Formats: sequence, structure tokens, C-alpha cells
Amino acid sequence: MNILAIESSCDETSAAVVCDGRALLSCKVASQIEIHARYGGVVPEIASRAHTEALIPCVRQALDDANIAMDAIDAVAVTACPGLIGALLTGVSFAKGLAYSFGKPLIPVHHIRGHVAAAYLTNQDLKPPFTALVVSGGHTSLLQVDDYSSYRTVGRTRDDAAGEALDKAARVLGLPYPGGAKMDAMALLGDPESIKFSVSHVDGAPYDFSFSGLKTSVVNHMHTLEMKGIVLTEQEKNDIAASFMATLVKTLTSRLSALMDTQSRPIVLAGGVAASKNVRNEISSLCEKRKVKLYMPEMKLCGDNAAMIGAQGYYEYISGNIADLSLNARASCDV
Ligand code: KG4
Ligand code: ZN
Repeated sequence: MNILAIESSCDETSAAVVCDGRALLSCKVASQIEIHARYGGVVPEIASRAHTEALIPCVRQALDDANIAMDAIDAVAVTACPGLIGALLTGVSFAKGLAYSFGKPLIPVHHIRGHVAAAYLTNQDLKPPFTALVVSGGHTSLLQVDDYSSYRTVGRTRDDAAGEALDKAARVLGLPYPGGAKMDAMALLGDPESIKFSVSHVDGAPYDFSFSGLKTSVVNHMHTLEMKGIVLTEQEKNDIAASFMATLVKTLTSRLSALMDTQSRPIVLAGGVAASKNVRNEISSLCEKRKVKLYMPEMKLCGDNAAMIGAQGYYEYISGNIADLSLNARASCDV
């Protein structure tokens, strides 16, 4: 079954063709990062307009790269929630038009389920049940994936997502938006023990996350240095990045480790921040130590893309999740 998938929930416009949820035939991603970098973050109105311009070229490119015509497409899948509402609406409206005019079924896909499904494209042996840790710019969630389309939330962030805190830390260190990848690289060159940031805990919710305290700590640390007129060397910046990343990673591993005390399900690590070498290395060592199998999408499928929506779209279709033309986008929704 060939699915044409569309993703437009934030600042990447993407179209992909995926066969039977597992074989990636093509994936085109048009990033808006350069546009939003001027403002230091995503401007929702600009994102919607940029999606409107990029959707048709992206879909054309994905079909060309897969060497497939619309006749050979069996269904259209689209990210319907969660995300920036205007951005989602551009993709949903476009997918509805495409499905209607070509007479194809329309499959709504939850963005976070999509991030998890990116791992199916890289790991052909991966099958539910497993536990998924999704770490991105908008989400930090610990999920039980009981079946391909049966999810339970075990833990979620109470405030900022890990990637949001990471991008803010990068900003106060003077890096352009989104600074996550650069922070990750700097952290590998720094001393993680140089500054003591603390790992947060949420009373009565051992699997929930909180990153706003860590974000505020690094902002305060930088402001204090600035007020004292201290100009940091590159090495000192690397040390701050390393200390910040180490705390972020410990926040993730402490929850995973606590969950591993109660179960031995395989782990899937996904989302944009799963491209972090620091995160991948530490979670890999934890899983090795606990003898738990770890699955991750390949690096290029960690960030937002339509391939992951095509992969999950296949399993949503099989479970009967097919929308009619009244499909609407939602900014937030349970997984
Ligand atoms: O999944 P994603 O593309 O978008 C959302 O669904 O939110 O995640 C974007 C996040 C940003 O915070 C970005 O800085 C971070 O992923 N990111 C990374 C890396 N690549 C992207 N963080 C650390 N290391 C990376 N290599
Ligand atoms: Zn995402």
C-alpha cells in the first residue's frame, strides 16, 4: 500500500511516499529555519504562509523522487494534531483537497505517533509492545505503545519541552535558532561537571518531566556573568553547554531508569532531540546496562518529516482510522 504523507505542524513542510509503513520511497523536507532564525523562534503566521507556498513543490518532488504517479497512491495521510494551528490547517486542507480530487482515503495522523513510527522505517524488526520516549522541540513524553495505534501516556512535561529549554539555552549562549544541534556538538567538547545544574523532580509523578527550572538556571547563570562583565572563552561556553546537556540527559534517563525497575519492554527513542549524540550515547549506555533493547530512527528521520507520518498512517489505516472531509486540525490532543 503506497501512502502519500504530508507534514506541516511546525516549521518544516514535508511530503513523502511510504510503502506498507516500512519502506521509504521518497521524502522531501523544506525547512523554514532560515526565515524564523531572524526572529529567534518560529513565527506562526509566517510558518503558515511558508507552508502554503511549499506544499505543492514538496508533494511534486516526493512523487517524482519515488517515481510514482497519483494513480499508484492508495491513500493520503496528514498530520492533524498537535502543532501550530495555522500550520496544521494548511497541510490538512491541502490533504483533503488531494484526497477528494483523486478519490483516495484520507488518514489523520497524530504528530507524536509519527515521531515514534520513524523508528519503524529504520528498524524493520521493531513491533509493539514497547515504551517510547519522544523528545522534541514541542514535546517530552514517555509512552506505552501497546499496539500500533494504541498509546498510553506514562509521563509528560509539566512545563517546557526538552528541546524548547535547549533552544533557549542556546540562545542565551549566543547561538542562532534553533541551537539544539550546535549545543549538542559544543557539549561534547566541554566539562559536564563544571556547573551544577539540578535535575528536577515532580512530586507524586515519578515519570513526569520539568525543564523550566533548568532553562531558568542557565538564563540566570548567563545574566550574572554578563552583569559582572565577564566575557566567556569558547571553552567556557562548551563547559556550560556540557553541564546543561548532562542535566537534560539525566532528567530523561532518571525517568527511563525508574520505569525499567518495573518492566523490561524495549525502548524507542524518537523526536528532534533524539538526534543529539549526548542523548543517544547516554540512553544507549543505560539500555545496555539494563539489558533492554533500544531502537532509534536514523538521524535524518528524528526531526519533523512526512516519512514518519506515512509510516504511522499505514497502521492508522489498518486500524480503521480514516477521516471524512469534515476532518479538522487541532492544536493539542491526547496521543
Ligand atoms: O521533532 P522536532 O523537529 O520538532 C518538534 O516536533 O518539536 O524537534 C526540534 C528540536 C529543536 O529543539 C532542535 O534544537 C532539536 O530538536 N534538535 C537537536 C538536534 N537536532 C535537532 N537537539 C540536539 N541535538 C541535535 N542534533
Ligand atoms: Zn515533531
